[in-house]
Amino acid sequence: MGAIAKNNGTLFDGSRVCLAPMAGYTDAPFRLLCFEFGADFAYTGMVSADGLVRGGDRTRRLLGRFTGEGPVGIQLFGSDPGIMADAARLAEEENPAFIDLNFGCSVRKVIRKNGGAALMRDLDLMGRICSRVVEAVTLPVTAKIRSGWSRVEENYMEAGRVLEEAGAAAVTLHPRFRTQGFSGTADWGHIAALGDSLSIPVIGNGDVNDADDYDRLIRTARCRIVMIGRGAFGRPWIFRDITNRIEGAARAGVGAEKRIAILERHIRMAVDWKGERPGVLEMRKHYRWYFRGIPGMKAFRRRLTTASSFTGVMRICQELREENNRKWKKLA
Ligand SMILES: Cc1cc2nc3c(=O)[nH]c(=O)nc-3n(C[C@H](O)[C@H](O)[C@H](O)COP(=O)(O)O)c2cc1C
Repeated sequence: MGAIAKNNGTLFDGSRVCLAPMAGYTDAPFRLLCFEFGADFAYTGMVSADGLVRGGDRTRRLLGRFTGEGPVGIQLFGSDPGIMADAARLAEEENPAFIDLNFGCSVRKVIRKNGGAALMRDLDLMGRICSRVVEAVTLPVTAKIRSGWSRVEENYMEAGRVLEEAGAAAVTLHPRFRTQGFSGTADWGHIAALGDSLSIPVIGNGDVNDADDYDRLIRTARCRIVMIGRGAFGRPWIFRDITNRIEGAARAGVGAEKRIAILERHIRMAVDWKGERPGVLEMRKHYRWYFRGIPGMKAFRRRLTTASSFTGVMRICQELREENNRKWKKLA
């Protein structure tokens, strides 16, 4: 008899679109922006269970949230069931909405420690980790998997069954193999097959970059909840585009003025969250996404990515606003 999944009421029943866990990106400021545009729930980036149990301050900081954020799941990675359970208990003290287990990460330093997608090759251990964590906390526990280690080791159906048996409240599938990394395309057919075979919700993920992709994924994968990753970089309003599409409302364009205001808000929050210099440095990786597809932005981007003070970057944003009248108007 499998464990009984703990669901916290309507979080997974009532949700339609969520922000993916993305290490180094889905911190409190970025999550709050995505919530403001309609994400139903979100995740921290992956947090090392070993690091948390060892009591590292840097690891602990990854758990923090802004007031005003919606439901956030703390995502843990690791390979030892006991340490994962201890880490989940510590994570639970932060009052997240749920705990998510990372069985999909393809990064070498995680794989080397037998974490992330390495567990796709040891479903017995994956199941033991999940049941130990389910026993350890009162929160719902979810898991994120890939389609398998490689095409010849495709086993997402078995992995889903193991996780459901172990008491997972939902499973997210990013339908690529570990050997693919992020190359090729996500095979949304795998999401449909998994959803048909499980009774817990399956969250569909992979390659949704706008509301049209969302429509196609929903049709192909027949899942109710879609997880957005890279499609939200520099465009947190993708959540509003999608919820408008679901509700049959017209797409609300995001003109230049609004984009600049969102960028400024993001910078302000990053500085509030991390302090001036780390906040300004942290923002550097976001600029290329905010300016994607806008011609003539190279010089501004270069200046933003070399400025190191809050007043410096805000001054550049003000210049962008002035430039907007000439270059960005057509984006509206
Ligand atoms: C920069 C970056 C960091 C990521 N970090 C994580 C992570 O911490 N945990 C995780 O489960 N997946 C992580 N992922 C994978 C995403 O959650 C998602 O599965 C993947 O990007 C595919 O979705 P997308 O096509 O919507 O981006 C990361 C992806 C990117 C691009």
